[in-house]
Amino acid sequence: MKKIILKPSGKEIEIEEGQTILSALEVSGYALPNNCRAGACGECKAKICSGEIDQGFVLDMALPQSERAEGMALTCMAKVQSDVVEIEYATENALPKLFPPVENLRYMLTEKINVTPSIVKLRMRTLGSVMKFWPGQHITLGDESAGIPNRPYSIVNTPNLDGEIILYITKKDGGKTSTWIHEKVKIGDMLKVNGPYGTFIGDPSIERPVLCLAAGSGLAPIQSLATAAMLRGGFKQPATILFSARTNEDLIDLGHYKFLDAKFRNFSFKYTLTKDQNEDGLQGRIPEILPSLYNDLSEFSVYIAGSPDFVDNCVGAVKKLGTPEEFINTESYV
Ligand code: FES
Repeated sequence: MKKIILKPSGKEIEIEEGQTILSALEVSGYALPNNCRAGACGECKAKICSGEIDQGFVLDMALPQSERAEGMALTCMAKVQSDVVEIEYATENALPKLFPPVENLRYMLTEKINVTPSIVKLRMRTLGSVMKFWPGQHITLGDESAGIPNRPYSIVNTPNLDGEIILYITKKDGGKTSTWIHEKVKIGDMLKVNGPYGTFIGDPSIERPVLCLAAGSGLAPIQSLATAAMLRGGFKQPATILFSARTNEDLIDLGHYKFLDAKFRNFSFKYTLTKDQNEDGLQGRIPEILPSLYNDLSEFSVYIAGSPDFVDNCVGAVKKLGTPEEFINTESYV
């Protein structure tokens, strides 16, 4: 089979006859920005460092002759011809390059739903340009001119052409921004969004079983990462989300996760309750129950999101079970 080598990381991926470079990258878990997937917008451009490709039919405005002469290609239409093609992709460790954050993007609030007694789900659409972000990143939201400080909130959904952003926002005692969002912000309001920020984006090149630990609205970036993996065709290695909630009322999107659990062979969703009795199974805090669920996490890649205490305690627990530091990814909300 033909292969693509990613530079500078040196990672190799296989590509089938007739498959586009973009599709081969995505199937192997490597994301590239893209839009039209038809050679018209130029979003999926990458540099071909060596090897032969067939660029296919693309518009000149998306890939001018001057860029072709420099070795650039539109990966959504390009197919490889030689046995090996080297392309420039991201960084030394194959993590995607981050998009520069933008301030004061105007988003309209189009939906506001209470998903638990303390968490609202906001759905927002941009009236201007679409923010580019990677699954797992966060934005900040506030209204500094009205004395409401900007606070970080992870994006729940995956990048999309509509520029839609979904957030879960927990109401914090004494929290100016979360109280403003819960009590004052209403559908149709224009909100100022800054971002994207953060590096909780996962490394697609790692082929290890994945364990995601989340509490409360920490489920947001985990949901984005998991959905992105599912859109790329599912999980090659087993992936588990273990979610911690106090009571049954604090479970977020349980039906959605039960569906995903049933649909994807390698994916499982479990939850534990720390206060209510859990008729479905797990009971107690994640750091305490983890040793009863796993003997050894040394081969796992672990993602942890939630409050600082939750994250610290989970990091301690997974380290005790053998997960090397470099495979522990955290996002905590102060
Ligand atoms: S995605 Fe638009 S040119 Fe490739």
